[in-house]
Amino acid sequence: MDKIYVELGDRSYPIYIEADFSGLGSALKEAGLCGRVMVVTDSNVGRLYLETCMNELSSAGAQVCSHVFEAGEKSKNLDTVQDIYRQLTAQRFDRGSVIAALGGGVTGDLAGFAAATYMRGISYVQIPTSLLAQADSSIGGKTGVDFEGVKNIVGAFYQPRFVYININTLRTLPLRELRSGLAEVIKHGLIRDAGFFDYIRMNMHKIFGFDETALRHVTKSNCSVKKGVVEQDEKESGLRAILNLGHTFGHAIESVSGFTLLHGECVSIGIAGAFRLAQKMGMVGNAVTEEVEKTLEAAGLPVRASGMDPQRIFAEMLHDKKAKGGKLNFVLPVRIGEVTVRTVEDEKLLMEVLKELVR
Ligand code: GLY
Repeated sequence: MDKIYVELGDRSYPIYIEADFSGLGSALKEAGLCGRVMVVTDSNVGRLYLETCMNELSSAGAQVCSHVFEAGEKSKNLDTVQDIYRQLTAQRFDRGSVIAALGGGVTGDLAGFAAATYMRGISYVQIPTSLLAQADSSIGGKTGVDFEGVKNIVGAFYQPRFVYININTLRTLPLRELRSGLAEVIKHGLIRDAGFFDYIRMNMHKIFGFDETALRHVTKSNCSVKKGVVEQDEKESGLRAILNLGHTFGHAIESVSGFTLLHGECVSIGIAGAFRLAQKMGMVGNAVTEEVEKTLEAAGLPVRASGMDPQRIFAEMLHDKKAKGGKLNFVLPVRIGEVTVRTVEDEKLLMEVLKELVR
């Protein structure tokens, strides 16, 4: 068993890295949360892991019920949150009760937001089952939902009481989802840990072969990068923005694709865009961009949004900027393992990059 702490003063919490769910009950006990627990999960993950998790939590003495919503980003809205509130009130959940978010990024964000707002905040725990959630979204307390077509626009920073990662849930993930999650994993190496990036590059076959030692190493390295950033800037007033490498191009591409491309696929194309932009700005050389694109492709990820209209992507980037009331900011590489945030509003330069990305 591996245990890593996210150090945030009185909001500190452990991340357990395990190979099954058998330690879930003791994690709950250790956190002193053995009252009432509602496991929130989606229709896909529920079929696979709900019963086991409920049994483990019950064995720790908790009184456990569940709320299952329809799988998919389309459920990440206030209607689903209201459904959760309804069940919480009907079952008289009180301030000492707990929500357990079992699933991928959508589940963690939704259930976390319900926990952050029900009775002005009750405890919640994260049990991430997708690579994207294990590597990124379950750690750091970002919760929220989509609203009026804008992703994650309603939400709260609200830290879980613990994160419980069972690395073997990756075995039941559709291959495309696994590849998509790898984009965030590669991103972590690129922003803060060149040695980790090399490890991923050299051990791709072990990751896809679900080698437990490799998966543990990857998970530990991911958690270390993520927790390091969150500890320094919990509420994204500065440094935390580096976790958005590839996201300025990526979010716009995701939206133009009508969400037919997965988040990680768009982040992958966005990372290629960020390296290409940095190259044009004289920040990195061609060899670095090529190495990064080769690694993303070796993970089975796209580095081009072939056939997409670059003007539409640009318009979407401007729309996103306006919706969030900010500037057109890009996380750009200085070298592998180090990035910086720059505002770039040179339309001609951005269009050059976009034209390369849609080839
Ligand atoms: N996924 C980016 C962050 O947690 O800040």
